[in-house]
Formats: sequence, C-alpha cells, structure tokens
Amino acid sequence: MGRTDAVGWDEDGAWRTAAWRSGSGARAPRRVAVADDRMAADLAYKLVCEGTALLWRGDYHGARQLLAALGRRVDRKPPKQGATPRESFHLYRQARTRRARVLGMLLVPLETAADGSWAVPLRRAPRVGEACVEAYGAPPGPVGALTLVSLRELQGVLGAHEWRRKGVPIEALGGARIHPRHGVFSPVRGEYVDLVARAPLPRAAGAGSGKEAEPGTEAGPGKEAGARPEAGADGGGAPGGEGPGGLTAFDIGTGTGVLAAVLARRGVGRVTATDVGEQALACARENVARLGVAQAVEVVRADLFPSRETGRADLVVCNPPWLPAKPTSVLEQAVYDPDSRMLRGFLSGLGERLAPEGEGWLILSDLAEHLGLRPREQLLEWVSAAGLRVAGRLDARPEHARATDPAAPLHAARAAETTSLWRLRHAEDRPAGEPAPPAVPLGPASDER
Ligand SMILES: C[S@@+](CC[C@H](N)C(=O)[O-])C[C@H]1O[C@@H](n2cnc3c(N)ncnc32)[C@H](O)[C@@H]1O
Repeated sequence: MGRTDAVGWDEDGAWRTAAWRSGSGARAPRRVAVADDRMAADLAYKLVCEGTALLWRGDYHGARQLLAALGRRVDRKPPKQGATPRESFHLYRQARTRRARVLGMLLVPLETAADGSWAVPLRRAPRVGEACVEAYGAPPGPVGALTLVSLRELQGVLGAHEWRRKGVPIEALGGARIHPRHGVFSPVRGEYVDLVARAPLPRAAGAGSGKEAEPGTEAGPGKEAGARPEAGADGGGAPGGEGPGGLTAFDIGTGTGVLAAVLARRGVGRVTATDVGEQALACARENVARLGVAQAVEVVRADLFPSRETGRADLVVCNPPWLPAKPTSVLEQAVYDPDSRMLRGFLSGLGERLAPEGEGWLILSDLAEHLGLRPREQLLEWVSAAGLRVAGRLDARPEHARATDPAAPLHAARAAETTSLWRLRHAEDRPAGEPAPPAVPLGPASDER
C-alpha cells in the first residue's frame, strides 16, 4: 500500500540501501544522514529543514523525543492569517504541508523479522508487527531485509492499529463499534451518521406505507438486522412491497461501511456499498460482517456507482470529501475532493441511477462555503443541472472540539460550520398538487431540521 521506492545512504564508510515505505504516498528522501541520541535538536531541525532526512540508530524513545522537539520548532511559526478566509485556508494548508514534510524526515528502520513480520531494530522499540502488516502487508525480502519509514508515519500506523482493535462506538448503531483502518476515513464525527439514522426513508419503488423498522425490533438500531428483504422487521417483503425491507440503497464511497450498516440496521433490504480504496473495501466488509448485516450489504469496488447490472436504487447515499482542494497525501483523499470531482460525479450520475420516487442523500458540510472555496449557489446549480431538486434538508452542528476552540486554526469558519443531509429527488418527481419549483432552500434556514 502507498509508495514503495529504494533509498540509499552512507554509513560507517559503506553505501547502504533499503526499501522505502510510505502509506501516505510521500517520496523517498534523496539525502539521508545517520543520527542518534547525541544529535542536538537544533542541528537536527536545521538538517531536516534543508532536506536531509535523519535515519535514527539510537534509542526508540529518543527518536520520539526528537520528533516532539522538531514539532515544537516548526510550530514556533504559526500559519499567517490571509486577507480572506480562502487565503487563510491556503496559508494554513501550506503550513500543514511543510510541517508534514519536515516531521516526515525523521526515519526509523523496519526489518523483516524471523517470524515473517516487521520489527523495529532499535533499543526499547515497541512491537510493530501486526500494525505494519495491516498497513503495508507482508514485509519484503529475507529476514533482516531493511525498509525505512518516517517515525511520524509509523506512529500513525500504530495509532490506526489501536483504533482498529478498539473500534469507534457509533450512537446511531446503538453503541456498536465501527473498526476503522489505516488510511480509511473514520466516523469520529458522529453528527453526519446521526443524520443518516434519522432522515425519513423514501418509499420503495411502487411501495405503500414505507413504514420503518422500530428501534429494538429485529432490524432496528441496537439489534442485528440479518436484513434480507424478507427478514425486515415489518415483514419487509420483496422490492416493491411495503416497508424498508423492500428498499434498495447504494452507499457511494462507503469508507468503513458505517452508513451502509446504519441503513441495513434501519431495515433497508439491500445495500450496495462502493469504494475505490482497497483498504476501505476490506474495512467495510469486515465491519458489516462484525455488525451482522453482511447479508444485506454487498461491498463492491466501483468508481462512484455500482455496475449498471445493479439497476437503480430507491436511496443513494453519498458523503464525499468536503473540501474542494488537492490532497497532498493518500491519507488526505478522504478529506479533499479536487475540483469537487466526487461531488459533481455523484450529482451528475444520480438521476440515472435513482428509482422514480427515490431519494439521493448528499451529506455535506458547508465548511467549503465558509472558507470561500465553493459557494452554495454552485452546489445548487449542479443539483438542478443534474435534473434534480432539493426535497428537504436536515442539519446538524458539529460537536468536535475544533468547532468551539477559538484558538483552533480557521476558527471563524469552523464555528459557523453546519453538516447537512440534502434530500434530492428527480426534478419532475413532485407530490401531486405541489407547485413547481419553489424554493430550492438557499439559506441556512432549512425546510426541515
Ligand atoms: C469522506 S469519506 C466517507 C466515507 C463513509 N461514507 C463515511 O461516511 O464515513 C469518502 C469516501 O469516498 C471514497 N471515494 C473517493 N472517490 C471515490 C470514487 N470515485 N468512487 C467511490 N468511492 C470513492 C473514499 O475512498 C472514501 O472512503
């Protein structure tokens, strides 16, 4: 996974080489010098700022301390404020990119261990085998073969392993846990998941009441759905029958599979979840299996929509990356959507894949609007150009700490942020008697909360 190259350096008068690993896609450093506990932090900082990576040969904890010391030195120069929110955002990203580059220059060796796993051949190093196999796969070469990684990345890999082991409790799943993986978007901000848990489900094509599974019933939150269409809480029935068991859904860009699992727990009979990331696909499959909804959720590799043979769906859910900007690493791909590619692709393809009375649920934060990166009018233009209309919107305020911390970067925009679930329908699909286009809801006051 990520980037693999070779890297070379001079050590004790001999030229050494090793493989290079970067799950975040960083390039192998061109200049490498050997360092240990005797190197002063100021000298280390000077070298890494000049582009020389440091291969640590000392005590593992010494490396961690040096990394913290480098971090303090980078942070002495906080990002400048721009004249506009947009400019501040770009300056902030530039500063983050530089920070990541500088801190990514402290390297540690990884070697192929005798048990066929990975090990860090440094004093007091933690066990990294399982975490590294999860992030990188099996180690290359014979026992003792060397690979270099940045310590910062290794810390991320170890952290991701802990998250995967412990999981993240999801209120909308009755407290059941989702287990994220390294490089897969993690549902730590629960408010968007809650929106998917409480938005009214559309009716299945040709259905009657569209009654939803109640919490505590077989397919309701807090219980395993086992949700085949015929196993829905209300007797669900085949597609076209009454109740959510007859509903079909797509979850576009499923990540950990959390939204697909929420839909299955709500009793949706058949969910097809797509992603382009291999780790995401494996992660989603693992999560839906753990949650006991694998019978209702099929996870497939697809660029946006599943293959045409899958037909149309009554409900198509998508939570694309929220900010239209270029990711600077593989790990940023779940946050930044260059040129709004995924958002536009979802909207322009939705009409064709949505059943006649179906709904598309677009989950989107308006942070991009507050940062001046994508105006609301642009989003609404794409909606109507795709032959869709806004049938409703549910809003949620973010609860994460940065939203309320006045010292956090880009605070003004973050404090104003709202996450919305936009309910989209075919433009011509309008309840009888409803006057034609009123109001696409333009402002922050939504028609539904
Ligand atoms: C912001 S994350 C959302 C993940 C998940 N749906 C959730 O709500 O937690 C966006 C996801 O879309 C996936 N993705 C990006 N481009 C895609 C594409 N063209 N087709 C399918 N999935 C894509 C990413 O790999 C990532 O998992």
